[in-house]
Amino acid sequence: MLEFEQVNLQFPSAPEPTVCNCTFAVNSGELVVILGPSGCGKTTLLKLINRLYEVTRGQIFLDGTDIQDIPVTSLRRQMGYVIQQGGLFPHMTIAQNIAVVPKLLGWPKTQIAARVEELLDLVQLSPRLGRRYPSQLSGGQQQRVGLARALAANPAVLLMDEPFGALDAITRKALQGELLTLQAQFYKTILFVSHDIEEALRLADRILILNHGQLVQYGTPWQILTQPASAFVAELVGTEDILRQLSVVAVESVMVSTSSVNSHLLKIGSQETLRQALSLLLKSGQSQLQVIAGERAIGILDLKHIQAVWQDPAMIQDSPSST
Ligand SMILES: Nc1ncnc2c1ncn2[C@@H]1O[C@H](COP(=O)(O)OP(=O)(O)O)[C@@H](O)[C@H]1O
Ligand SMILES: [Mg+2]
Repeated sequence: MLEFEQVNLQFPSAPEPTVCNCTFAVNSGELVVILGPSGCGKTTLLKLINRLYEVTRGQIFLDGTDIQDIPVTSLRRQMGYVIQQGGLFPHMTIAQNIAVVPKLLGWPKTQIAARVEELLDLVQLSPRLGRRYPSQLSGGQQQRVGLARALAANPAVLLMDEPFGALDAITRKALQGELLTLQAQFYKTILFVSHDIEEALRLADRILILNHGQLVQYGTPWQILTQPASAFVAELVGTEDILRQLSVVAVESVMVSTSSVNSHLLKIGSQETLRQALSLLLKSGQSQLQVIAGERAIGILDLKHIQAVWQDPAMIQDSPSST
């Protein structure tokens, strides 16, 4: 668990604190997106965690230990750090880039080579790319390498600063999906900085919203969308956007359970969102969908069920991604 306790950071040159009285906790295995406008202090907040910046006042705890009491090298070993374009070293090959931390840790050569191969596979890159240089890779490939490098020594925490910000929409979506898969598989604690609300809604267990260095709201995507703490939050996340709300509710949380099969209906997976369901309903011209889990029919979703959420958001206790 990572805990912030009344954390402040004041740059000597700045008139006001860049991070101001921030108190929050991130559970182990949780993916928290830090969201806010440009210049609000997102990058600075992240850099306090791996001590690229030191707090002026307050404390940050990693699994109960004040990070001030952890030697910086050992702290950073427990935290992978991913930035835009992967932050790769241009004069090193891809394999050498990924091997940086294992090499520092003095792993034997054969073990490093095996780990590099394993990581390339994990981020879906061909082992052949290991011999290339960063400039010979696409933006998306570079970002995969950045992720592989951050995962090399198997850190418990991943700090990601707008890692997909420079990518085209399709590549970005693919990488978001893969990050979610990795997260489910390896149970990392992830702090992910973004200024893109759609990205935040897709990835986050919880979203932390910053404005002028202050934490203005911390909650599940559904809580943020339906109970914005202020006009600032409402505007930032676009609470008026009904499709956005439907995009954070899983079909299974509003369907009616039944194992009876209606072969005339289009099928939708129980983990899909109401936004996808609505789009299918509109395309099909029907008013119901068959909900399936794997191959099995488990329920019926009616347009009325979607309208009910629309009319009474309180009926949804929580977003699907927070469970
Ligand atoms: N090393 C620094 N010295 C002085 N001011 C800084 C430094 N780093 C960032 N800042 C200032 O802190 C504020 C927040 O910056 P940053 O954390 O990079 O914002 P964000 O990542 O949300 O866009 C900005 O006003 C920026 O100019
Ligand atoms: Mg930034």
